[in-house]
Amino acid sequence: MDGRQYAPATQRNREPILEILLRVLPPEGNILEIASGTGEHAAFFAPHIAPRCWIPSDPDPQLRESIAAWQNYFQLTNLHSPLDIDAAESRWAIEDKEIKIQALVNINMIHIAPWSTCLGLIAGANRLLPSGGILYLYGPFKQGGKHTAPSNLTFDQFLRSQNSQWGVRDLDEVVAVAKSNNLELQETFAMPANNLSVVFQHQ
Ligand SMILES: C[S@@+](CC[C@H](N)C(=O)[O-])C[C@H]1O[C@@H](n2cnc3c(N)ncnc32)[C@H](O)[C@@H]1O
Repeated sequence: MDGRQYAPATQRNREPILEILLRVLPPEGNILEIASGTGEHAAFFAPHIAPRCWIPSDPDPQLRESIAAWQNYFQLTNLHSPLDIDAAESRWAIEDKEIKIQALVNINMIHIAPWSTCLGLIAGANRLLPSGGILYLYGPFKQGGKHTAPSNLTFDQFLRSQNSQWGVRDLDEVVAVAKSNNLELQETFAMPANNLSVVFQHQ
C-alpha cells in the first residue's frame, strides 16, 4: 500500500547482475540507471555499490512513484530520487543538472521498446559518459543474427505480437551503433536464462 511495486524477474536476476556490476563499474562516482522500472534493482544494488551513488530513472510516472517508495522504505543515502528520462529523447533531464556520471546501466529495456530507444540510449551514453566511462546492458540478444536459445525465439515472437516495434535485438547491430558513438565493446558475460551482460567503454 506504500507504492512499492514488484517485478518477480528482479528477484531472480539481481544477484548475477550485481556480481558483474561489481566487476565492471568504475570504483566511485555516479551510476545512472535508465529504465529502472519498479526500482527494486536500484534499492538492491545501492547498498552494495557504495561509495558510488545510484541514480534511477524511468519515463513512467507510476514507476517513478514505486522507485521513490522503495527509496523511502530503505532510506538509502546513496540512492538518488528518480529522474524522468526517456532514452529516446535527444536531451535528458540529467543534462540540466550539475551531475557527472561515470557509468550508465540499462536492464531489460532495448527489446521492450522501439529500436529508436536503443539508438537514443547509446547516443545519450556518448553525450554523458567521460572517457573510460562504462555502458552496461542486460537482456536477451541475438548473436550473428540468430537466437541463442529456443526460449529467446519464443520470447521474441511474443514481444513482436505485443508491439511490432519491439523484439530481441541483434548484438552485432547494437555493437555497430555503439562503435559509431565512441563506445567500444569491452566484454560480454553469459547470464542465467539465456541473457547477456554487455559492457562497453567510452573512448
Ligand atoms: C521490462 S521493464 C524493465 C524494468 C527494470 N529495468 C527491470 O529490469 O525490472 C522495461 C522498462 O523500460 C522502460 N522504458 C520503456 N521505454 C523507455 C524509454 N523510451 N526510455 C526509458 N525507459 C523506457 C519502461 O518504463 C520500463 O520501466
